[in-house]
Amino acid sequence: MNSPLNNTTFCLHTFGCQMNKHDSERVEGMLEALGSLPVQSVEEADIVVFLTCCVREAADTRLYGQVSSLKNLPLRDGSPLRQRIVAVGGCIGQRDGEKLVQQMPHLNVVFGTHNLASLPGLLEVAASQGGHQVEVLEASENFNDQLPSVREQAWAAWLPITIGCNNFCTYCIVPYVRGREKSRPLEDIQAEAQELVGQGVKEITLLGQNVNSYGRDLYGRPRFVDVLDAVAETGIERIRFATSHPKDLTDEVIERFATLENLMPYLHLPAQSGSNRILKAMNRRYTREHYLDLVRKVREACPGIALSTDIIVGFPGETEEDFLDTLALVREVGYNQAFTFIYSRREGTPAAAMEDDTPREVIQERFDRLVEAVQEGACAANQAFLGAVQPVLVEGSSKRDERLLVGKSPHNVTVHAPLPEGVSAEQLAGSTVNVRIDEARTWYLSGKLAE
Ligand code: SAH
Ligand code: SF4
Ligand code: F3S
Repeated sequence: MNSPLNNTTFCLHTFGCQMNKHDSERVEGMLEALGSLPVQSVEEADIVVFLTCCVREAADTRLYGQVSSLKNLPLRDGSPLRQRIVAVGGCIGQRDGEKLVQQMPHLNVVFGTHNLASLPGLLEVAASQGGHQVEVLEASENFNDQLPSVREQAWAAWLPITIGCNNFCTYCIVPYVRGREKSRPLEDIQAEAQELVGQGVKEITLLGQNVNSYGRDLYGRPRFVDVLDAVAETGIERIRFATSHPKDLTDEVIERFATLENLMPYLHLPAQSGSNRILKAMNRRYTREHYLDLVRKVREACPGIALSTDIIVGFPGETEEDFLDTLALVREVGYNQAFTFIYSRREGTPAAAMEDDTPREVIQERFDRLVEAVQEGACAANQAFLGAVQPVLVEGSSKRDERLLVGKSPHNVTVHAPLPEGVSAEQLAGSTVNVRIDEARTWYLSGKLAE
């Protein structure tokens, strides 16, 4: 039977982390399987789907504006639908459920993080019968690994190994909107990795809120290091993983940076703060000393490894002294990259009830000092690549200049280089080329193609 979505068009807006990016590939796969065509703009779209994020307030408030702006937008000529269908899923869908349609009555469909597979059905009912279709489940039934999928890039794939999170850092909403941690069986991971290699994928990024706690809920308790070994065995060119919680990073995993050729020399190790007092209040369950010891071990195993981190500024009760500890940590480690955030109060988390009297300007001023330190560190770290030849996995051409190719080095640094005469970036995308680096800026390297 023909789906009511056949010959419709859809536009997908995805926010937040890789979990949503991965989910969006499934949504695209499911909708295309029903005969709906992806389009770039909401004007041309019969169906607009938002995969939302609520990790910080900014992401939260943006959604309302975007959904509202669709209210009076006319449907394109020739649409098989009577009205545009607007659907909200992801973490705000999970958190707010029914409340969303009360606040935004022109919203047609709400779904959560645990029932992605229901989306096509909900859209079909909305298309044929109208009304509000809301379905949010308490917990995940499965990994959605049987759903069709359209990869954003043919040569790179996200591979979730866990979903959910059990850590309950006191500031964080993720455990409430993604549920308890659930690990995917090792055989399934290996089978999918093998299949991806067969499809010509060059880079696999293993995903989880904390990949290091993989397997604790599975029979035989396989560990993350077993996942690394199994995926490495498939012969994939590049392996990366995110995110790695410092409290659970083991010596075995660290050692793999020395022994597995396809494990890239790059580690994202979120510190969040450099103050032991704040780390305790955040329920991170490691100390600054433990963190620095991990960094030392990782660098011993893999000299020159690139490190990145996440830092929160302005956690409730953070003093100037706490902040100086964070700044000192950032300078001591010398990160290649750092994602810096101003603390955002999330209703329902333990930190939301903590006294928080630091003035906004003080927090902003700390944030600016942190960003400056991060930039100095990144720029200094990039100088190490000057003169070196780096194998670059090409992604496409530069947005500013289409004669420049853009790709990533093993250390996950963006590299630019002029394309050879008569060769387009599209032709090179997904292949690895050697670039001799002759310029090192804060956020990228430039060079020329080398043999
Ligand atoms: N599971 C990952 C983090 C996922 S959220 C980990 O533990 O590393 C990504 C980042 O958002 C976090 O590392 C943290 O730095 C930031 N973040 C989470 N909640 C936040 C909040 N309430 N305010 C500001 N930043 C937050
Ligand atoms: Fe949030 Fe902490 Fe879980 Fe990361 S480990 S998702 S910061 S609760
Ligand atoms: Fe955001 Fe949900 Fe990821 S809140 S960071 S999209 S798990």
